[in-house]
Amino acid sequence: MGIIEAEHLDKYYPPPRKGTFGFIDLIKDLRKPRETLPALVDVNFEVKEGEIFGLLGPNGAGKTTFCKIMNALVIPTSGHIYIDDYESVKDHEKITRKMVTIFGGEREMWGLFSWRVTIERNLKYIAELWKVPPHLIKKRIDYAMEILDLEEKRREWYQKLSAGMKQKVHLALAFIVQPKIIVLDEPTIRLDVPSKRRVHDAIKKELCRNLGSTILLTTHDMSEAEKMCDRVAILNTKIEFIDRPENIKELSKEYEILELKLKYLNSKTKKDLEPFTIRTEETYKNGIYKLKIFFEDKEKNLPEILGVLKSSKIEDIKIRTPSLEDAFIYMINRGKKDV
Ligand SMILES: Nc1ncnc2c1ncn2[C@@H]1O[C@H](COP(=O)(O)OP(=O)(O)OP(=O)(O)O)[C@@H](O)[C@H]1O
Ligand SMILES: [Mg+2]
Repeated sequence: MGIIEAEHLDKYYPPPRKGTFGFIDLIKDLRKPRETLPALVDVNFEVKEGEIFGLLGPNGAGKTTFCKIMNALVIPTSGHIYIDDYESVKDHEKITRKMVTIFGGEREMWGLFSWRVTIERNLKYIAELWKVPPHLIKKRIDYAMEILDLEEKRREWYQKLSAGMKQKVHLALAFIVQPKIIVLDEPTIRLDVPSKRRVHDAIKKELCRNLGSTILLTTHDMSEAEKMCDRVAILNTKIEFIDRPENIKELSKEYEILELKLKYLNSKTKKDLEPFTIRTEETYKNGIYKLKIFFEDKEKNLPEILGVLKSSKIEDIKIRTPSLEDAFIYMINRGKKDV
């Protein structure tokens, strides 16, 4: 039994309303079927207690929608998310003390932080709001400031911090409350490399391993998922795959990538390649076409591909196995083909 469980979760958003000009138009518009744009379709997975679980997907995959449903900010069309046995929408109030959700970026969703107030005062206020025992408040603020390298900014007004610093301050919330479950929606989206590293360590070593929280984090950064997560689900409206990051990489060994520089490339050649390839990516610069071909079954397909490209004048050719990032893109495209 998972501490977070998604069961047959669907979310369809309403399509954007067309401009209405009068009463009749408005009635016609209201009569149109609502909720038709799929953001999540039959999503099922569970997160085990104590693990860092990554929800990995491209822009528009439904990651934030999932986090919002966990917080009853969005109501699912059908299905449920259970959090520690409570239903995320119906039992929302019971969940609020167990779970903290931090949305990435400079704007935090909850409006918890006052702009013309110091970081320290803001965090004290949040601790009181969450009913942190008074004797622990200063200790926890010190802990968060140290781990997140914010000690110098402690007495600055929130307003004066850069976007990245604000984002780190939002993460301090998890250290102050120390909840059972932490949801992080793109926790490093605006951070520079040193801050990213700091935040990765803060999440993995402190929040998860030291404080024992279960963490669900969303990202579209494959290397972040690989570094941080015990398991990942590849989400692209539907769940494409769930496994340990290293196994996902392993799975992608079933295909290879051919990188070519070509003098010529016309639409007939591209069409002729289709039966032998999974997907191609093409760029053109300084009179040279760069073509990246994803293909399976080397023995059978490679001679065919090279045959098709005979008239394209190959200037350079490389063959390689996919990186984890390639694997992610491959799986997302494979998912699209299956739809
Ligand atoms: N309030 C809304 N009304 C209508 N459509 C919405 C709404 N919120 C999200 N969507 C749509 O739902 C889909 C999923 O969006 P969502 O924000 O969950 O994706 P995401 O995976 O978080 O993307 P990103 O990586 O860009 O943050 C998108 O197609 C988006 O346009
Ligand atoms: Mg998002």
